[in-house]
Amino acid sequence: MSVNRPAAVVVLAAGEGTRMKSRTPKVLHEICGRSLVGHVVTASRALDPQELVVVVGHAREQVEAHLAGAYEGVRTAFQAEQRGTGHAVRTALAELGAVPDGTVVVLTGDTPLLSGGTLSALVASHEADGSAVTVLTAEVPDATGYGRIVRDGASGAVTAIVEHKDASDGQRAIREINSGVFAFDGRLLAEALGKVRTDNSQGEEYLTDVLGILREAGHRVGASVAGDFREILGINNRVQLAEARSLLNARLLEAAMLAGVTVVDPASVQLDVTVTFEPDSVVHPNTQLSGSTHLSEGAEVGPNSRLHDTSVGAGARVDNTVSDGAVVGDEALVGPFAYLRPGTRLGLRAKAGTYVELKNASVGEGSKVPHLSYVGDATIGDFTNIGAASVFVNYDGERKHHTTIGSHCRTGSDNMFVAPVTVGDGVYTAAGSVITKDVPSGSLAVARGQQRNIEGWVARKRPGSAAAKAAEAAGDGPGNGV
Ligand code: UD1
Ligand code: CA
Repeated sequence: MSVNRPAAVVVLAAGEGTRMKSRTPKVLHEICGRSLVGHVVTASRALDPQELVVVVGHAREQVEAHLAGAYEGVRTAFQAEQRGTGHAVRTALAELGAVPDGTVVVLTGDTPLLSGGTLSALVASHEADGSAVTVLTAEVPDATGYGRIVRDGASGAVTAIVEHKDASDGQRAIREINSGVFAFDGRLLAEALGKVRTDNSQGEEYLTDVLGILREAGHRVGASVAGDFREILGINNRVQLAEARSLLNARLLEAAMLAGVTVVDPASVQLDVTVTFEPDSVVHPNTQLSGSTHLSEGAEVGPNSRLHDTSVGAGARVDNTVSDGAVVGDEALVGPFAYLRPGTRLGLRAKAGTYVELKNASVGEGSKVPHLSYVGDATIGDFTNIGAASVFVNYDGERKHHTTIGSHCRTGSDNMFVAPVTVGDGVYTAAGSVITKDVPSGSLAVARGQQRNIEGWVARKRPGSAAAKAAEAAGDGPGNGV
């Protein structure tokens, strides 16, 4: 829907959010990888407002730093004392300087499920009706705590919003509530805010009183009923935070599935808003995908996997894996039980197998680290196989060092590569080797003690034991009594 650019969007976020019982300011709590205020700012951007002002107060520095870091072009207005939602909007208008000429949208920083589409519809209906104010309302199953929409019995027009604490029993029975989202005529808003009083149960300047003031002055007051009340759920405590997270997660999963992603068990999969998919990718149960994680066509992830900022190539398979900041190549295999840490790069058809940890390591095309290994700070060429139980010894206690292994190598099991060290192309290494020196291409490197058999030792030192009897029965050892 295309609407005129509002003169301003004002987001109210100065309150402490006491009921969260948290050191973190309420609007900085996250659901699905984005802060509550971030969700509101993102939805507001759909309106392309000329100014976007967030009113901050409690934990001002933290909220301002968060906005400055992630949301360019957002202004803040400082409300030193939380003297009510009307006072908060006055503070925002003062920050803007000139009285805004055009529509001003006001919303609260704690309604993360609100969509840009709903905001656009509100502004469209506000402007089409030529109203002084249009409030977004919703019918909710439980209206406790919300401001009630009072309508004229005959015309159905909105006459006032009455806060729960100030409402009569009759008014409390009303289930149509104020979402806290409004579209105003900027000039009329500024004028009316000057007339708001504080003679209510909380001694605050209520923004909601502006509706009655405008109506009494003969202006048109409108209401737009939200199609889905769940969009306007406000977060006041952690129960509501969890509810909102689950609703948003379900929305994200639904969009992914409709776009061609198979989600085997949606109830056990959690997504961030920033995760992206290509069609025919598959997500198995008990899997969390977060940050910039991307699944390419035909990629399969899970079960029991946690991927953050990880890109999974086409047709790759990632099973029972924890990954952060990794790039998994097309048709690569990861897990079960792998840990990929930042800087991991797996090439085409590469493998990081079972009980394998990789960090800042690049594994070339077709190369494999199949079992029980740690590969840190390393470059492995193409079509190389790293033997089971190998460790890339990257840390000397003070600094990290790099290991380079060439292409088409076959390293033995239980090797230690003590960095810095370079192994050429086509190299073999013996099992149990501790590789401390560079290995030229085409060599076999052996770096371990020679085996020594002390024959007849059991018969001499453990005479009569089960071992001695077994050895005697085997009869093939010199000096064992035959
Ligand atoms: C408010 C509305 C109520 C509505 C409900 C919807 C008023 C008077 N009441 O009630 O009608 O049903 O939202 O969720 O508007 N804030 C400031 N500065 C202040 C006071 C509040 O920035 O001085 C911010 C808060 O941080 C919050 C928002 O405004 O983000 C709403 O304040 P809150 O105290 O949560 O209002 P409610 O009691 O929920
Ligand atoms: Ca609230």
